[in-house]
Amino acid sequence: MSELSSPLPLPLPSLAATTALIQARRTNLRIDPDRDVDPALLTQLCALAAWAPNHHLTEPWRFAVITGEARAELGRRTANYVIARGMPDDERTAKVGVKYLRAPAMVMVGCASLADASESVRVEDRDAVASGIQNMLLAATAAGLCSFWGTGPVTDAPEVKALCGFALADIIVAALYIGWPLGDVPVPQRQAAVIHWVS
Ligand SMILES: Cc1cc2nc3c(=O)[nH]c(=O)nc-3n(C[C@H](O)[C@H](O)[C@H](O)COP(=O)(O)O)c2cc1C
Repeated sequence: MSELSSPLPLPLPSLAATTALIQARRTNLRIDPDRDVDPALLTQLCALAAWAPNHHLTEPWRFAVITGEARAELGRRTANYVIARGMPDDERTAKVGVKYLRAPAMVMVGCASLADASESVRVEDRDAVASGIQNMLLAATAAGLCSFWGTGPVTDAPEVKALCGFALADIIVAALYIGWPLGDVPVPQRQAAVIHWVS
């Protein structure tokens, strides 16, 4: 991945191509669970997160790639967490346990919590991680992959952080379902940008 240590000396994509890529990225769970994603491609997506803007260059992003049987363990830990928090151990909870089998790879993206960080650094670090995630999603789209940014109990559970190799104080910003598409989903429309121009 040495080519990712500095920008590529290639012509940049046009604004039209960049616009098309941004608009083509979709939150899409219509993923083939049985078609693996090459670990080198997943590594490349994670490496691209690091090109996000990052005040003070703290490099707060942390990654864990959960594949194979470990996806069931991710589900078990999330289900145990919701049960411990009072959710009944019923059919709905059972669904939590198998959710992560819907994609061949779950990429968990964390934000490191630096011990001596001020509140503003913590906020800005999380902003940087979110920017990095968008890099990942756009690159995944460009590679023909589909993706889904999930949150909820899976991003809160301490046992999930442990599975990911993250520190307890770290924040999980996204549980990304990544895989090859089985189909498209409708495009949610966006309002035109409301801009207050001042000159
Ligand atoms: C921080 C964050 C958390 C999200 N969590 C969820 C989620 O838990 N479940 C879900 O269905 N979508 C989640 N999404 C995806 C949004 O629902 C999705 O981006 C939105 O519906 C617009 O669709 P699009 O991404 O295809 O444009 C999340 C998005 C962000 C930025």
